[in-house]
Amino acid sequence: MRMYDLISKKKLGEALTKEEIEFMVTGFTDGSIPDYQMSAMMMAIYFQGMNPEETVALTMAMAKSGDMLDLSAIDGIKVDKHSTGGVGDKTSLALTPMVAACGIPVAKMSGRGLGHTGGTIDKLESFPGFSTGIETEQFISQVNEIGIAIMGQTADLAPADKKLYALRDVTATVDNMSLIASSIMSKKLAAGADAIVLDVKTGSGAFMKEEADAKALAKIMTDIGNGVGRCTKAVISDMDQPLGFAVGNALEVIEAIETLNGNGPEDFSLLCMELGAQMLLSANKAQTVEKAKAMLLEVIDNGKALDKLAEFVKAQGGDESYVYHPEKFTLAMFKRPINAPVSGYVSHIECDEIGVCSLMLGGGRETKDSEIDLSVGFVLQKKVGDYVEAGQPLAIMYGNDIAKMDMAEERFVKAYTFSDIKPAECLMIKAVIS
Ligand code: URA
Repeated sequence: MRMYDLISKKKLGEALTKEEIEFMVTGFTDGSIPDYQMSAMMMAIYFQGMNPEETVALTMAMAKSGDMLDLSAIDGIKVDKHSTGGVGDKTSLALTPMVAACGIPVAKMSGRGLGHTGGTIDKLESFPGFSTGIETEQFISQVNEIGIAIMGQTADLAPADKKLYALRDVTATVDNMSLIASSIMSKKLAAGADAIVLDVKTGSGAFMKEEADAKALAKIMTDIGNGVGRCTKAVISDMDQPLGFAVGNALEVIEAIETLNGNGPEDFSLLCMELGAQMLLSANKAQTVEKAKAMLLEVIDNGKALDKLAEFVKAQGGDESYVYHPEKFTLAMFKRPINAPVSGYVSHIECDEIGVCSLMLGGGRETKDSEIDLSVGFVLQKKVGDYVEAGQPLAIMYGNDIAKMDMAEERFVKAYTFSDIKPAECLMIKAVIS
């Protein structure tokens, strides 16, 4: 088999066989197929697409390119959750202790942020001492002892995807549905959960700007998961504006803690309840969505979800006192309001631009090796549908560098659009696909 022939075949729009896809993934992982040939293949796939059989074959070949985690030593149905990424997306921080407090074992692998979207691992590192660099044995025994553990993605988990994603990132081939679906599902399948709940975002801060595309992506991913015997569902959720009010690592952790105290933003709390309910249903902990939501509310009301977060932070070396005293988190040196230039209703927020502004303050990574500043970010004061007077704050900006703050402020204001007419209300949960 020659990679040249496979590129040529795909360029002409023909389907690749399972054996050809396996050859390509194995060769790319071991270095015998060079980046330039794989780049050409990615571009051919970008334009010609892949059929469902090819997408499944690519997913499985990438999942099997490294370790497939065996979680059978953990009792109960393990349910994983994955978000396609967004701005202010701190869902895992609140959701995982909520479902763990309801008795679902949470054994989760999470990633770091890259580009305008944040990552759970970075956010968790806002707790002094917290570490996700734990070995698989500790990971498993911690889940058995306290019901929850989160570790960083190991180099051995779907290494083909790791290499391929880095290549797609620099060759403008990320935003293809089959490639996104196989990338996400290869990691989820390798991470070993019995069931998977996907949070597929749509809107200006998401990969899938259009709802129809988000639904199509969700369908491809749920088909892949269910096709290999892992109960997979997807919630299509809004990412046309930042989730909640906080954007930035420590600020988002504080907002997640407020949510576990029952004082979270409405949109964020709604999303956590929907995803949590789907996770409880998948784990057979509840028979209806209503009962599942009641269970989740109970662990918030009786403080068990907050205590679970503290237990989890402590088990991974972090200072759990921050959970009960979030005022202890170190925030940036300077705090500045960003004021509205005109009066009117906020009619649109260019969501990914807000993510870029946080990145400009130092809160995100430009490259995978960049250091990030966990203390910077924004707390939005106005979101879509809110009325604002000229000169009133749209957000409070937290920064450590005045020049960076000046640049971020200019861009932040441009991300907002105003109107004299109140815009129609936007639904947080667009659909559930199972
Ligand atoms: N997230 C992933 O893990 N892979 C993609 O291709 C896109 C988003």
